[in-house]
Amino acid sequence: MKKIFLNLLKQPITNSYLTKINNRVIKKEFFYNLSVVYNTDNHLVSLSKPVNPKMQFTDKYAHRASQSLTMLKSFKKISKTLKKRFKPKKALEIGSNDGVFLKNFKKKEIIAVEPCLNLARITKRKGYLTYPEFWTKKLSKKILKKHKGLDLIYSANTICHIPNLKEVFDAISISLNDNGVFVFEDPYIGSVLKMNSYDQFYDEHVHLFSLLSISKLVKKSKLRIFDVDLLNTHGGSIRFYVCKNNSKFNISKRVLNLKTKEIKQGLNKFRTYLKFAKRVKKSKDDLLKLLKKIKLKGKKIISYGASYKSATIFNYCNIGTEFIDYAIDTTKNKQGKFTPGKHIPIKPPNGGIKDNVDYAFLGAWNFVNEIKKKEKFFLKRGGKFICHVPKVKLIGF
Ligand code: TMP
Repeated sequence: MKKIFLNLLKQPITNSYLTKINNRVIKKEFFYNLSVVYNTDNHLVSLSKPVNPKMQFTDKYAHRASQSLTMLKSFKKISKTLKKRFKPKKALEIGSNDGVFLKNFKKKEIIAVEPCLNLARITKRKGYLTYPEFWTKKLSKKILKKHKGLDLIYSANTICHIPNLKEVFDAISISLNDNGVFVFEDPYIGSVLKMNSYDQFYDEHVHLFSLLSISKLVKKSKLRIFDVDLLNTHGGSIRFYVCKNNSKFNISKRVLNLKTKEIKQGLNKFRTYLKFAKRVKKSKDDLLKLLKKIKLKGKKIISYGASYKSATIFNYCNIGTEFIDYAIDTTKNKQGKFTPGKHIPIKPPNGGIKDNVDYAFLGAWNFVNEIKKKEKFFLKRGGKFICHVPKVKLIGF
């Protein structure tokens, strides 16, 4: 049974940055109600009504995974590890974005699957075989006919975007060789509860996974989890290693340990999620109180990163240009546009935070270390970051 525990109010599609603001555009902007459910049967946490993926993953998809140094390094490291551990002759990536993972493989070794046409074009141009499609059973059968089985399927920050997980895992089951592996990583619900990072809920994050939930779900497609990693990426992610039921892999101790930890954290109890919802409401109250206090002093606040996550915060807390003058973001195709829902202008960083800025809200808090390094001068001159996780706070020099 699905039980609602959190209501994050009316939200826009996070990727729908507006190119201009006028009455007609504002009237046409799409909003949906973002509420979150816990499934008592399989422990999965999901949005109660996902948006149609065709509205989200278009040929204007803004996010470029290769924009962040942290992510570049992380993909380089994981591709090296996977090659060493599994020695794949043929690999595939689901949700290959702009090729940040693919680039660590030879062109013959890897197949890309990416439904956003603007991104699929990038990897195609670079010479990678790219299927500009959603990951489905139909596609997996098409690929199997041409390339036989796959030794490795990898996916980062994509599987949690897909409403129908049964279809995903069935397609994996079709594609993998007998001893092939499916490795995927996505934001972790355990970290969300710990960090109070409710901004991990937005239209694209249809689900937030735990080991408990994914163990149950893969079983239905004759798959099993044999290893797991907890990661710092994106403010706390989980990486699953999945194989066919009859394959050679033994279950690592990490799997058993994490299961125990998740039960201790109460990830299998509805009341844990209700308590979290109370903390979310407090976070909103605290953030608004802090922003009002700063504005009363006549100070200037910007947002560092026009991230998808910050769209959830700004729309849930009703924070617009009365608080945040503008957002800076390194992503070229976000610059010159306006954030969805609250219409905050987005500018290029142009060498960093400007001298007349007193506070920067960390819209990209998951890259705080990278940002602090870049913005040493801002901090040294007394500038402060506003961060809402794990509690609303200021970060100074
Ligand atoms: P993400 O958490 O969805 O990856 O979004 C982070 C956003 O922050 C993305 O649009 C890029 C932006 N960003 C900057 O503008 N400057 C930075 O230094 C970093 C790390 C990210």
